[in-house]
Amino acid sequence: MLYSTSLSLLALASTAHAACSRGFLQEATTAYLQAQSAGKISILSLASNVSYAENNTPIDIQKGVISEAITIDFNRSIYDTVQCATFTELTATSSHPYVIHTRILYAEEKIRTIESVVTDTGDWAFNATGHLYWTKQETWDQIPEGKRDSRTVIQAAGDAYLDQWGAPSLPVPLGTPCARLEGGFYTAREDSISLQANTCKMGAFPQPLKVGDRRYIIDEELGAVDIFNGFPWLEQSKPANYSTPSSNFFKVGDGLIRYIHEITVCATPRCGL
Ligand SMILES: *[C@@H]1O[C@H](CO)[C@@H](O)[C@H](O)[C@H]1NC(C)=O
Ligand SMILES: *[C@@H]1O[C@H](CO)[C@@H](O)[C@H](O)[C@H]1NC(C)=O
Ligand SMILES: *[C@@H]1O[C@H](CO)[C@@H](O)[C@H](O)[C@H]1NC(C)=O
Ligand SMILES: *[C@@H]1O[C@H](CO)[C@@H](O)[C@H](O)[C@H]1NC(C)=O
Repeated sequence: MLYSTSLSLLALASTAHAACSRGFLQEATTAYLQAQSAGKISILSLASNVSYAENNTPIDIQKGVISEAITIDFNRSIYDTVQCATFTELTATSSHPYVIHTRILYAEEKIRTIESVVTDTGDWAFNATGHLYWTKQETWDQIPEGKRDSRTVIQAAGDAYLDQWGAPSLPVPLGTPCARLEGGFYTAREDSISLQANTCKMGAFPQPLKVGDRRYIIDEELGAVDIFNGFPWLEQSKPANYSTPSSNFFKVGDGLIRYIHEITVCATPRCGL
């Protein structure tokens, strides 16, 4: 009896493992990209009670951007086998330019949660052409086994960057070089004068900001983390504690941040700034 119970537990454990292998998550991401390209949600394996949200608001998936055919110029994904979840960044420059960040959580090989930060014209520093140009030049390579940071270290690097907005003296593990792509604006462009080239250093905000609602996807093999979060203060048409939908995507190596991509949705053009 005991013996057969542990056998079935083992069987369960290996099923759960199979469902969350990197291979499964990669195939599922290919399906997501196909669905988004065709605007066909029928391509997705959705749980019957799937939750779908855009810019922190639950909406009908049939009315979501996922139901719109989009020509994708570039995409980058990371795979979180611990949470059985993925994160994808899409850049699209054709008729309706977009930069979209999407996190997808799976259970029993079906999508149970899909949420996106969807940016387009008028959003913070939005420029899909610029985003495409710079992201294509970056290398987010696989880190060899033995040289990988732990989930904790990767997450701590991303958290430190956001925490520093609330406490300017907090240290942030920024690598040298480090490049930040905000919308379509790049800090490492050759002609960058106001921002020092090849550093992700931020100036202080006029007031300390508490960045809340953090939701993580972490990939140890790529040394990457994405953090969906609420960016306060930025949106001038809202109270200072309003949580502007935002996503920060980090590439980390040897515990140091190498790249940061931020997209942030404005309620009014350029958040009223
Ligand atoms: C969806 O259904 C699954 C399986 O029936 C359940 O475990 C999960 O809690 C449900 N999720 C929501 C958001 O209701
Ligand atoms: C996503 O990017 C990969 C390369 O990383 C490429 O092979 C694939 O075709 C892209 N998918 C779409 C739908 O553009
Ligand atoms: C967007 O970025 C491209 C490429 O860097 C640049 O040529 C273009 O002027 C930018 N557009 C705007 C409106 O800033
Ligand atoms: C935001 O601040 C306003 C007052 O400025 C307050 O009434 C409201 O409860 C606050 N909201 C949150 C979510 O803290």
